[in-house]
Amino acid sequence: MIEIKHIKKSFSDKTVLQDISCNMESGKVNLIIGSSGSGKTVLMKCIVGLMNVDAGEIKYEGIDFVNMEEKDRKELRTQIGMLFQGSALFDSMTVEQNVMFPLDMFTRMNFSEKKKRINAVLDEVNLKDSNNKFPAALSGGMKKRVALARAIVLNPKYLFCDEPNSGLDPQTSLVIDKLIMQITKEYNITTIINTHDMNTVMESGDHIVYLHQGKKQWEGTNKEIIYNQDTYLNDFIFASEFLQSAKQMKIQYANAKTNTP
Ligand SMILES: Nc1ncnc2c1ncn2[C@@H]1O[C@H](COP(=O)(O)OP(=O)(O)OP(=O)(O)O)[C@@H](O)[C@H]1O
Ligand SMILES: [Mg+2]
Repeated sequence: MIEIKHIKKSFSDKTVLQDISCNMESGKVNLIIGSSGSGKTVLMKCIVGLMNVDAGEIKYEGIDFVNMEEKDRKELRTQIGMLFQGSALFDSMTVEQNVMFPLDMFTRMNFSEKKKRINAVLDEVNLKDSNNKFPAALSGGMKKRVALARAIVLNPKYLFCDEPNSGLDPQTSLVIDKLIMQITKEYNITTIINTHDMNTVMESGDHIVYLHQGKKQWEGTNKEIIYNQDTYLNDFIFASEFLQSAKQMKIQYANAKTNTP
């Protein structure tokens, strides 16, 4: 479990995260949702240590991450897999070389051990036989799957995915969501996903944290989110006029049902 307590972060005079507290639970897909600019990426970067917080506590399995010595931080980082917003594959490297990169950086495996591990994770993300392709030859969904394979190749305890579905069609997005859910449950990983994709929220929202203008505005599950009473969250979920009218119809239907003797 990752505990986050009273996190604050500003850039010069602009406050981006205001007193955020929440727990990211193991074996669960924890979602951070919110509109563009609400602070999702900054929060994720603070949790993995790519950005320093101004105040607050971050604990991995009870161990203080904010004041951890650099050597211990480095070790913990090997247990963290990250899928960046936009995949961030190396264009000049093949799929295999992209996935091999963390193994080269952080392990002393020999070449055949690395090949075995790479083939296992490519199989896990349904990308067998794509080892020698370059990113330019892959579809958006395949690129995300390569990025996911690279994120899990070191067998992480913690998996961070920043907008894993951006730029994908709804069906391909669901394939990625299901894959992340499956990997999370199979290996009991603590997974954190940043998203504003409502399909992801409804499909994999074991635990949802909603950010609004850098504040935690709401926290709950996908079962609870539909019936939430928060105005900002409802504006976020039911953003289109079509969904607004569907929501009104649902309320009218529910009222009619309760008023019928
Ligand atoms: N390095 C930085 N320096 C200054 N301001 C920053 C920096 N990084 C982010 N911000 C600001 O912090 C705020 C939150 O940004 P963030 O990228 O976390 O939003 P987000 O919720 O991830 O949005 P999106 O859904 O578009 O990815 C924005 O106003 C952004 O301009
Ligand atoms: Mg972002």
